[in-house]
Amino acid sequence: MNNTSINYDAENSYILSNEFVDRMSDKFELTVTHLDLVKAPLEHLKQTEMLAWMIPEAQRNGEQKSLVDLFDNLIKEVQQSDVLVIGLPMYNFGVPSQFKAWMDRIARAGVTFKFTEQGPVGLIANKKVIVLAARGGIYACADNDS
Ligand SMILES: Cc1cc2nc3c(=O)[nH]c(=O)nc-3n(C[C@H](O)[C@H](O)[C@H](O)COP(=O)(O)O)c2cc1C
Repeated sequence: MNNTSINYDAENSYILSNEFVDRMSDKFELTVTHLDLVKAPLEHLKQTEMLAWMIPEAQRNGEQKSLVDLFDNLIKEVQQSDVLVIGLPMYNFGVPSQFKAWMDRIARAGVTFKFTEQGPVGLIANKKVIVLAARGGIYACADNDS
């Protein structure tokens, strides 16, 4: 379960996602892993880190290995989960930068997706992703309601 809200006193997306997980836990036997991207924010993706992913494992130097290892656990967490529950507020018509930093870590070419002639194709199958979104505006049935 991921939290990405900066509003600690009244975080709607967090309340929603907690409620959802609590109710599911009443019905099913679940192992829940929490990832709070606000209390433990990820740095923005840097070129050095991205380049380290692209170097074949055997050729990486110590620094490159640590850079790759640092966030491999985030990918493993996704691979090992059956369901991802994401509490996601809208900030300035987009996702919080904390969430984007997480996306930048788990979208890794050759590991979680690949490029094909038809476009990018995901390499992680059979996951359910449940997004509990909170927004201040009303977008229902509008073009940008996605
Ligand atoms: C920095 C910031 C930017 C926001 N931008 C938008 C926006 O573009 N559109 C919108 O509908 N609501 C916007 N809101 C309102 C939030 O989406 C709304 O308060 C939502 O409940 C936040 O989720 P949270 O309570 O889980 O933090 C913004 C709120 C903040 C703090």
